Amino acid sequence: MKIQVWDYKKEYEIHQKDILRLVDEVFRSGRLVLGESVCEFEQAFSAYCGSNYGVGVNSGTDALLLGLKALGIGDGDEVITVANTAVPTVSAIMSSGGVPRFVDVKPGTYLMNADQLEQALTSKTKCILPVHLYGQCVDMNQVMKFSLKHGLSVLEDCAQSTGALFEGKRSGCLGDVAAFSFYPTKILGGYGDGGMVVTQKENIANKVRRLRMYGMEGQYYSEEHGYNSRLDEVHAKILSFKLQYLEGYVARRRQLAEVYRQELCGSGLTLPEVAEGNYHAYYLYVVRYPERDMVIEELKKKNIFLNISYPWPIHTMRGYSSLGYKEGDLPVTESLANDIFSLPMYPSLTDGEQEYVCNALRAILGK
Ligand SMILES: Cc1ncc(COP(=O)(O)O)c(C=O)c1O
Repeated sequence: MKIQVWDYKKEYEIHQKDILRLVDEVFRSGRLVLGESVCEFEQAFSAYCGSNYGVGVNSGTDALLLGLKALGIGDGDEVITVANTAVPTVSAIMSSGGVPRFVDVKPGTYLMNADQLEQALTSKTKCILPVHLYGQCVDMNQVMKFSLKHGLSVLEDCAQSTGALFEGKRSGCLGDVAAFSFYPTKILGGYGDGGMVVTQKENIANKVRRLRMYGMEGQYYSEEHGYNSRLDEVHAKILSFKLQYLEGYVARRRQLAEVYRQELCGSGLTLPEVAEGNYHAYYLYVVRYPERDMVIEELKKKNIFLNISYPWPIHTMRGYSSLGYKEGDLPVTESLANDIFSLPMYPSLTDGEQEYVCNALRAILGK
């Protein structure tokens, strides 16, 4: 048996006929970029999120960047976020001209510690960018209360939280703007890059629509400085098709998480904690163990391959040294990076494969 970090081929085998039929439909339609399939998917996905507008873009990174731009973030504006995230969160802030200011994460859930927002606040702060990491949401009551008090905008990074709920509401309708990724590994993953800005606000949606297309409303005339970040028809078509299975994907992820919880409780691994008010979508199943590297190496010998999300906190990376942070500034984030790793978690992981992983782990851990 070989267990991959992630696998889409089993899913493709199941849906191959439908996917090839849909791809063929697009290729015969005469429209390959920003056409009817994109509009349909924008409407269906934003409705799924409980929001009014969706604007399809080229990636989750672009959804963050254009979302920030639409909120008016520009040179020198400070955006409060976390360093325990994927690099694109921070890269998008920098690309907008904004300056990332980090708060630490909570020791139990590894999500933004909103208690620290006050100490990160300066006269230049314009926006809070909570990252709903690993499939569950930051405490948005606290974030929204703080943002209202200080007149800040809120952009949710939902790249990992498609399908998650916070107090019964979907991630993506909890702030001013939300950015989703449809990168193939994601909970709703396409067959190439893709992303979406989701918002309740018409003016923001219109602005992102212009920004994704050279600042144009019609053809060839730019109303403002823009960019090219269009979603392809073929991706939108496949994503619309997969949307009908999304609830099932999340349910399967939750089922796998429950089995891990039962099988690995008492194994010595620190298992994920569900944050208050959350319906966790389990994009990743992240555990902690002091001798992480040994466990990963031993599992490799048994043909089980794991990932670490993320092994380096962003504030300590060379690429972001200009931000002026140093080791020790975000102790919880830094300690996590030393011992977290992610167990295989994707809907097509079979019960037998999961059992193999659990047995292997217990044998390695001597439990
Ligand atoms: C938390 C987070 N934000 C943003 C992104 C960027 O998404 P994309 O890869 O579609 O640009 C990702 C995915 O890599 C992510 O995990």
